[in-house]
Amino acid sequence: MARKYKIAVVPGDGIGSEVVAEGIKVLKALSKKHGIAFEFCYFDIGKDRYLKDGTLLPDETLHELKGMDAIYLGAIGHPDVTPGILERGIMLKLRFELDLYINLRPVILFPGVETPLKNKGPEDIDFIVIRENTEGLYAGSGGFFKKGSIDEIAIQESINSRKGVERCIRYAFQCCRERNKRKQLTLCGKNNILTYESNLWDRVFEEVHKEYSDITTDYQYVDALCMWMIKNPERFDVIVTNNMFGDIITDIGAVIQGGLGIAASANINPGGTAMFEPVGGSAPKYTGLQKINPLGAISAAKMLLDYLGEKEAGEIILSAIKRVVKNDLKSMDAGKMGRSTTEVGDLVSSYI
Ligand code: IPM
Ligand code: MN
Repeated sequence: MARKYKIAVVPGDGIGSEVVAEGIKVLKALSKKHGIAFEFCYFDIGKDRYLKDGTLLPDETLHELKGMDAIYLGAIGHPDVTPGILERGIMLKLRFELDLYINLRPVILFPGVETPLKNKGPEDIDFIVIRENTEGLYAGSGGFFKKGSIDEIAIQESINSRKGVERCIRYAFQCCRERNKRKQLTLCGKNNILTYESNLWDRVFEEVHKEYSDITTDYQYVDALCMWMIKNPERFDVIVTNNMFGDIITDIGAVIQGGLGIAASANINPGGTAMFEPVGGSAPKYTGLQKINPLGAISAAKMLLDYLGEKEAGEIILSAIKRVVKNDLKSMDAGKMGRSTTEVGDLVSSYI
């Protein structure tokens, strides 16, 4: 009997629905040929719903999402809504409530994709960033004192729990072991400045390392790491870092692997539900134009399959993506691909 999976689909804002449609097209093509069945359940969450009736992410929706095998997300965020409302009310709520404590972002340059880095190729750009996804500066802890007065004070606190740091670091060591490439885990922090936070991360890192003697480790200050990602990306295998640093460095990661159009991301609770999305965001000015590259979303669908244990199916999508980037696209950037969003999805599907 065919394996059957229930997938929650949240197209979200801007170009989200356009790219998610292509990912689903590819999953359906795969389903026809390879005996995996999907049930797609659509959820109306995002800017439109919020502007219509003020709904962000209700508890009953969260409850339904928890019962799914995986969540496939387009993008959340739109300039028509004050910054922070959709991001905190939907995106972060999903991450926090589902306890998706790992944000896994591969940085892999496929053959045929152009990187802005001079003299670097696919053999140089091949690493994974593990970003802590539920704590740090994202926790929303802090407040104002004397708001609006000239004596105003704003405090934004970074929350780092021993448990949160440890589970993230342990996941990163394990990921590095299973990836089995250079077996080198880099801790990205700022222990010359973040006296308390980085100190906790350093101690836990050292402690967990004892369980992973097959892994070599190193330490990079986040600012220096940004430089090395551009100068010598080949020195990285797996990087583990906090929520805020992870957010920043993975935009650099996306651009060196060919652009936001091709980068994918997994929000994972090992043992629970997970959510997969392209890194690109909602790109509002491109909405409805069919100009955005859906390969980030299609790569996210590949990660979704891997997560469900359908590695073979994931590999099939990956080969199809590689074929498209090598043979059919002029660029990975929006509007410069030489193909429409739908055409790219059709091409990938045809190679399945
Ligand atoms: C990301 C995004 C989000 C983040 C926003 C949309 C809340 O930038 O997934 O990297 O800051 O984590
Ligand atoms: Mn980001």
